[in-house]
Amino acid sequence: MTELSAFTAHNGFALPPQGLGTYNLRGESGADAVRSGIEQGYRLIDTAFNYENEGAVGWGVAGAAIDPAELIVTTKLAGRHHAAERARTAIEESRFRLGVEAIDLVLIHWPNPGEDRYVEAWRALVDARERGVVRQIGVSNFLPEHLERIEDATGVRPVVNQIELHPHFPQIDALAYHREQGILTEAWSPIGRAQAVLTEPAIIDIAAAHGASPVQVVLAWHRARGVVAIPKAADPGHQRENLAANDLGLSEEEVERITGLGRKDGRLFGADPATHEEM
Ligand SMILES: NC(=O)c1ccc[n+]([C@@H]2O[C@H](COP(=O)([O-])OP(=O)(O)OC[C@H]3O[C@@H](n4cnc5c(N)ncnc54)[C@H](OP(=O)(O)O)[C@@H]3O)[C@@H](O)[C@H]2O)c1
Repeated sequence: MTELSAFTAHNGFALPPQGLGTYNLRGESGADAVRSGIEQGYRLIDTAFNYENEGAVGWGVAGAAIDPAELIVTTKLAGRHHAAERARTAIEESRFRLGVEAIDLVLIHWPNPGEDRYVEAWRALVDARERGVVRQIGVSNFLPEHLERIEDATGVRPVVNQIELHPHFPQIDALAYHREQGILTEAWSPIGRAQAVLTEPAIIDIAAAHGASPVQVVLAWHRARGVVAIPKAADPGHQRENLAANDLGLSEEEVERITGLGRKDGRLFGADPATHEEM
């Protein structure tokens, strides 16, 4: 495991350090934003059944001047589709909407432990991969106890866990656990929805020292910690600015300083996967 890069999972599956989030990108303007993101250089696109935009993502991908084989498109299985048969058809419908032969990566969106059907959902993802409908499978918002349970039940370890992660919620323990397991960490709301995080004096100072923007500093912090950030940006200027952060290097001290902004209650809307449910 030690020779693998921070962006390579236990099975050799690799991700770029940054992808494009697409929450709220819908319709023509959503498809345009996805196409623009790809043309600016994004190669990882993040959608979900529940974003109601798999069609816009598929359309944006088809309209971009690039071979779709160079892209990794991720979607997520919704909570109301955890039962085996519903999961099977939901994944097939996602595939049709995305307009692909096989979906590159499918994640279980939330474990919904109160419903307690995430093991069944995981078996459905394993089955979809075996049938060739999906290439790689992972999870989102899973705690270590959920990760252990699906692996114990099936012998299959996810390649990715996509979790809430930004300077106010740096997820130090989850990161260490994922690294040990060879599970890639993706950060959702990586720039804290461009709100309070970006007004932190430490981030503003570091940005000034590098002649960079606060958003770029936060994205460079993710990369330095081996985290794949998936900022959502409809604005092509934002997309360009965000991708340029791939060239920004921070010192260890700067990384530590930003990690130090973490708060115990730093989640953006209190969605603790131990109790939060999304259908
Ligand atoms: N797995 C899950 O449960 C889960 C939950 C939430 C989100 N997600 C995924 O994670 C993605 C990202 O999270 P998010 O959308 O919640 O929040 P985010 O990426 O932290 O923030 C998005 C906001 O930041 C703005 N922005 C982007 N780049 C900027 C820049 N350079 N300067 C100033 N503002 C900038 C965007 O504006 P413009 O759009 O106007 O450019 C948008 O308002 C989502 O889109 C989704 O794909 C997953």
